[in-house]
Amino acid sequence: MEITGKTKLCVLIGNPVEHSMSPKMHNAAFQELGLDYVYVALRVDNDKVKEAIEGIRAFNIKGANVTVPHKIKAMQYLDEIDPVAENIGAINTILNRDGYLYGTNTDGIGAVRSLQEENVDLKNKKIVMIGAGGVARPISYNFAPDAKDFVLFDIAQNAVQNLTDELNKKLGGNIRGYKSDPAIIAKELQDADIFINATPVGMYPNINHSVIPKELLRKDLVVFDVVYNPLETKLLKDAKAVGAKAISGVMMLVYQGVAAFELWTGKKAPVALMKKMVLEGLGLS
Ligand SMILES: NC(=O)c1ccc[n+]([C@@H]2O[C@H](COP(=O)([O-])OP(=O)(O)OC[C@H]3O[C@@H](n4cnc5c(N)ncnc54)[C@H](OP(=O)(O)O)[C@@H]3O)[C@@H](O)[C@H]2O)c1
Repeated sequence: MEITGKTKLCVLIGNPVEHSMSPKMHNAAFQELGLDYVYVALRVDNDKVKEAIEGIRAFNIKGANVTVPHKIKAMQYLDEIDPVAENIGAINTILNRDGYLYGTNTDGIGAVRSLQEENVDLKNKKIVMIGAGGVARPISYNFAPDAKDFVLFDIAQNAVQNLTDELNKKLGGNIRGYKSDPAIIAKELQDADIFINATPVGMYPNINHSVIPKELLRKDLVVFDVVYNPLETKLLKDAKAVGAKAISGVMMLVYQGVAAFELWTGKKAPVALMKKMVLEGLGLS
């Protein structure tokens, strides 16, 4: 790739950023489509977020991803926030429209698209999710509005209570939340269509753990695990063993990037290549 005076710049703003798959994923995609763009990761100190956002305008940077810990703080310096991102209370993507900065959150869209890719219809379904932390927020705001029933669990009573109250207030829905209890989880899963693990349970190195026992899984349950390392968690192995559809969090990671790429370039992203790059970057290919 030749970098010239015309090359458009996209960046990642976070702290740390060194581990990120995004530069590898986006640069490969730009190259594949012959787009004159380059993506770099910029470590931004916690007290320099305002300056970093001003830098997007000053340097005429075309687009940005924002990652931990700046996803919330960055919002106040933008010109417009997408309503779903506003509800989530965090952004992960910025588009620079001639100095006008638009912020959005593609994490939930990433989750939606990773299920749609597996032909999962999300309308009118009963969804049970364990985990009410950071990743649960974009998933909830993207899945709950179309769900027939949305039930949340978390070991932390406060976390589940707060998210449930907030979702009901903002979405005007009938969302239920409980402190994790094996008997209630078992009961709620009996007639669920989709089960989501939104906790780190099962993540490397604790690969022999699953957030629910295999006995609760059924052939006609779709199982989505936000964990992406390992690619096939114990939960997903158990799901496959009973004939259920098992979807890894790696595609959520890929599709949040796909959505950002498409927003910045207006082009259809090369999904397979972006997935390959993420797997390579994670050492999972
Ligand atoms: N696929 C993707 O694109 C993607 C994106 C973002 C994150 N992730 C993954 O998502 C996972 C969660 O991240 P996060 O940022 O949401 O973490 P988080 O903010 O810490 O939230 C996790 C929540 O799950 C709860 N929890 C932990 N173990 C539990 C259990 N056995 N039963 C019920 N609740 C339990 C935690 O409670 P305590 O705080 O009390 O432990 C916490 O409230 C991580 O593995 C992360 O790598 C994936």
